[in-house]
Amino acid sequence: MPKKAKDIWKQVDQYFAGALIAPGDGFDAALDANRKADLPAIDVTPLQGKFLEILVRATGARRVLELGTLGGYSTLWLARALPDDGVVVSLELEPRHAEIARDNLKAARLVHRTELRIGAAADTLAALVNEHAAPFDFIFIDADKAGYPEYLQWSLKLSRPGTLIVADNVVREGKVIDPENPDPNIQGVRRFTEMITAESRLSATALQTVAGKGYDGFVIAVVIR
Ligand code: SAH
Ligand code: DHB
Ligand code: MG
Repeated sequence: MPKKAKDIWKQVDQYFAGALIAPGDGFDAALDANRKADLPAIDVTPLQGKFLEILVRATGARRVLELGTLGGYSTLWLARALPDDGVVVSLELEPRHAEIARDNLKAARLVHRTELRIGAAADTLAALVNEHAAPFDFIFIDADKAGYPEYLQWSLKLSRPGTLIVADNVVREGKVIDPENPDPNIQGVRRFTEMITAESRLSATALQTVAGKGYDGFVIAVVIR
C-alpha cells in the first residue's frame, strides 16, 4: 500500500474518531494496557469498535457471541451496547489474553455483562451447542482466520432467523482475491466465503475498510431462515 494512502487513511480515522467518539468513551485505557502487556496491535480500530456497538444497539441484541477476545477491546464496545441483562460470551484460546481482557473489562465496569471462555473456539463452540445455549442475536467472528469455515458452521447452529454475523479481516490488503495464496488465513476466508455462497440460510455482503492500520474488511451476514 503506498505510504501516502495509509497516512491519509490514518488522518481521516483520527478526524472522525475525534468528532464522533467523545473523549473518555473510546476505551483508550484498554488499548494502553494491551500495548503495555505486549499484545499484538490487532484490535479493531475505535471507529470499527463503535460500528460494532451501533450494530448491537440497532439489532437490539441481548446475547452476543465473540470469537477471539485478545485484550477485550472489541468486547468492551459490544458489552457497552447491551442492556443490563445482556451478555457477551467471548471465546479466547490464550489464557493470558483472557486475563488481560478481564482486567480491562473490570476497569471499564463492564465485566458483569461478559463471560470469557478459554480454549480453542472449535471446542468452546461445541460446548455451547452441547449445553443447548440459547441462540445468539449477534456473532462477531475474529479468531484465527483459518478457522472461519468451521466457525461459520458452529455459528449457524447457535443462531436463529435474524441473527447478524460479522466476520473481521476478510480482505487482508486485497490478498483474498488470490486463489493461489498459500496462507491458511487467506484460504480460510475464501472457503468461508464459498460456504456462505452455498448457504441458503444466509444473506451476506462485504465491506472493504481502510484505516491507519491498513486495508481490510468485514463480511456481514444475516440468518434469513
Ligand atoms: N477481537 C479482538 C481481536 C482478536 S485477535 C479485538 O478486536 O479487540 C484474535 C484473537 O483470537 C487472539 O487473541 C488469539 O489468541 C485468538 N485465537 C486464535 N486462535 C484461536 C482459536 N483457535 N480459538 C479461540 N481464539 C483464538
Ligand atoms: C490479525 C488478526 C486480527 O483479528 C486482526 O484484526 C488483524 C490481524 C492477524 O492475525 O494478523
Ligand atoms: Mg480482527
